[in-house]
Amino acid sequence: MSAVVTLDLSGWSPALAAGAGPEAARTLEQGGVIRLPRVNFVLTKAEGRFLSPSWSDGRAKNISLDGDRLKGATGAAADLAELAAMIARFAASASLLVTTLFPRYAPYVKRARTSYRPQPAVGREVSWRKDDSRLHVDAFPSRPNRGERILRVFSNVNPAEDRVWRVGEPFEAMAKTLLPRVREPMPGMAALLAALHVTKGRRSPYDHLMLALHDSAKADLGYQRESAQEIVHFTPGTTWLCFSDQVMHAAVSGQFMLEQTIHLPVSAMYDPVRSPLAILERITGRALVPAA
Ligand SMILES: [Fe+2]
Repeated sequence: MSAVVTLDLSGWSPALAAGAGPEAARTLEQGGVIRLPRVNFVLTKAEGRFLSPSWSDGRAKNISLDGDRLKGATGAAADLAELAAMIARFAASASLLVTTLFPRYAPYVKRARTSYRPQPAVGREVSWRKDDSRLHVDAFPSRPNRGERILRVFSNVNPAEDRVWRVGEPFEAMAKTLLPRVREPMPGMAALLAALHVTKGRRSPYDHLMLALHDSAKADLGYQRESAQEIVHFTPGTTWLCFSDQVMHAAVSGQFMLEQTIHLPVSAMYDPVRSPLAILERITGRALVPAA
């Protein structure tokens, strides 16, 4: 069965039939991807000039907007202000979409950084750990999240080329395959990393497991090749959403994408037992996020 559900909604504040919002939330919370081919982030004519990798500073993987700080971009101040405004408009649109589709999430939505990715999705020389063309769940080495969900909204703003992903097996199946390889963290390591400000706050056992699953999947080329997966196309003008800490995903091709990250507490979910935290606690039989 495909993990991808296509909905024929249009606009960033789409009208929904009764029950459609909770049903869409269930799709996401069960590890699905919601594809919205008619929710289109339209660039103005002037913004069309940003469809070029030359706005990248060549060092950062993506251009990002964190609050009102633009990072990873290069150009004249007036151009960068306009680029930042475009990314900010996407951030507002993506948040509106999430709060419209999932009113239950609305009071908890924490908007994190917004990224614009003008580089081709694959082809850069990167280490295996940073290679997003390998199936993985998102887990961030420097930002422990103690089980908090990572909900992402993506838009393909390329006028001509699809964005293509591989989507892998369900989280629980992946975890059952890969968890036996995961070693315990060294005693004192979480405290040390936090003290050295390598991590923003202390890694919980949950964060340790999520990073280990991310790495184990990417490191195993046999798993990459042979685990259950499907190819998914996002045509020009398509927006899609998923919990990227839960959906096994990999970039295949594409260029020019906007992405909004939203953090959400597990308690905001319609069905918290579907969260990676609950699944990992069930499999391992222990609490993975000690009280702060
Ligand atoms: Fe990812």
